[in-house]
Amino acid sequence: MNSTYDVLLDRLQVAFERIAPGSDPVLRHSDRGDYQANGVMGVAKRLGRPPREVAEELVSALEIADIAEVEIAGPGFLNLTLTTHFLERQLRQVLQDPRMGVASTAHPKKVVIDYSAPNVAKEMHVGHLRSTVIGDALARMYRFAGHQVIARNHVGDWGTNFGMLIEHLIDLGEHAAMASLSIGDLDSFYRAARAKFDSDDEFKERSRTRVVSLQAGDPETRRLWAILVDESVAYFAEVYAKLDVTLAPEDVVGESYYNDMLSDVVADLDRAGLLVDSGGALCVFPPGFTNRDGDPMPVMVQKSDEGYGYATTDLAAVRDRVRTLGADEILYVVGAPQGQHLEMIYAVARMAGWLPDSVRVEHVAFGNVLGPDRKMFKSRSGETVKLVGLLDEAIERADVALASRQSDLSQAERQHLATQIARAAVKYADLSTERQRDYIFDLDRMIAFEGDTGPYLQYAHARLRSIFRRLGTLWEPTDVHFALASAPERDVALGVLAFPEAFASALAGLQPHRLCVYLFDLAQRFTTFYEACPVLSVEPPLRDERLALCEVTARTLSLGLSLLGIEAPDRM
Ligand code: ARG
Repeated sequence: MNSTYDVLLDRLQVAFERIAPGSDPVLRHSDRGDYQANGVMGVAKRLGRPPREVAEELVSALEIADIAEVEIAGPGFLNLTLTTHFLERQLRQVLQDPRMGVASTAHPKKVVIDYSAPNVAKEMHVGHLRSTVIGDALARMYRFAGHQVIARNHVGDWGTNFGMLIEHLIDLGEHAAMASLSIGDLDSFYRAARAKFDSDDEFKERSRTRVVSLQAGDPETRRLWAILVDESVAYFAEVYAKLDVTLAPEDVVGESYYNDMLSDVVADLDRAGLLVDSGGALCVFPPGFTNRDGDPMPVMVQKSDEGYGYATTDLAAVRDRVRTLGADEILYVVGAPQGQHLEMIYAVARMAGWLPDSVRVEHVAFGNVLGPDRKMFKSRSGETVKLVGLLDEAIERADVALASRQSDLSQAERQHLATQIARAAVKYADLSTERQRDYIFDLDRMIAFEGDTGPYLQYAHARLRSIFRRLGTLWEPTDVHFALASAPERDVALGVLAFPEAFASALAGLQPHRLCVYLFDLAQRFTTFYEACPVLSVEPPLRDERLALCEVTARTLSLGLSLLGIEAPDRM
């Protein structure tokens, strides 16, 4: 089906085309009419004519009477009020459309999304939570739009730290080490290794030698390294399962995957004449990047000890993603502080010819998670807060909230529901703030059933579903007549029909929060409707109309939440 917005836009475009070819009607939602076209001023300016006159000419050229009433407002805005006839036509189509009016893209792209990317033998922190939750929402949205998503979990599984980590593993004994890692005790493992490295010269020396063996591919060292990686990745998988994210084991393509490509990367850069020797290290200086003192800044591709680092790996990754995977678009869902690093990587990759202009690269940056004191979120003892611990606490709180309600849920059902609510609380709190901004981690607020929260939206959906349960019989939406006689009914209808443009805007801006804003608004429209309009106690055909509005609202909420990675249980 064609979305309501697209139908309107098509009609407007015909008239705008006639008067000023190539112009944009700038169609937006409006508080006054249902929509407004703000493009008249631009056209008037282009033609050098008074806006009011242009507006009148546009209105007479518009063939739109069957779908909207048009009114010229102010200096030349076009206010559009949709006809009931058109709303009914659209609602009937949406009733039959599982995609709720969102068309699949006509130009499917291959989109690589780099997200989550925790580090081996280190606890996932709240920054990784943000990357995981935002990245997963974008992955779901892109897939729904009809694109092919290749998730890349760029796990930090390489580097000089691994010397000390492997030596610590040997000291502990493989079994004890595995036991500690498999229960997710990553931070104490890491800290213990670090402490020995800093205080024990013999250990430090062993660690150094071990890094050399690791880089040389010594089989025993590799085997020990693989234990660290496998145990950590298995632990990450548990966190993903608990969060219900779509990341799969095969999406883990850690930094080490690129090892064999690094020398080629440097050779390519050398052939392109881009390498500069800087105190024994090989660097590329992409133009336009300077430090505070105005000096050009390097991307170091090979250290003076001939080793490679984070940047070289990222260069290899871009090259591989374009050349081997055939990416049309690459998204990096990485914290804001890595913005400059990424910009420099793109710049070098472009200079080397690995990143053609036709490939879109985007840093999906996000802000910090703060504690109640507005400082970086840390546990009381000053350590990074353990992600699973937060989720478990959220599950516990949801369970307590559920237990205080009268319900016939079994213990197992309640536990499952509590998990669904907790995930919704944590994910929605993260996704509903504009991602570049910081937010305060406040479980009480996040898990409340009232306000702009995940559980509130789930609850709105469950209430809708309960209406159908109380109906007692199976309801089939055939031949529903939409009179939309009252404002709350009309507002719900308009809300549901606006889903495609909310989705499109969230996707185009890589801003899941726009979808959150939309869903919260829809839930509020429903609440107003439900308070004003009895559903089950009225007679058909009004009852069928209202049931149909409930049905499309429930489905839109459920679909919208699913695109954010949030489940919509039928009862709560
Ligand atoms: N492992 C890194 C970290 O924890 C994030 C990696 C992001 N992805 C990338 N391609 N650099 O900060």
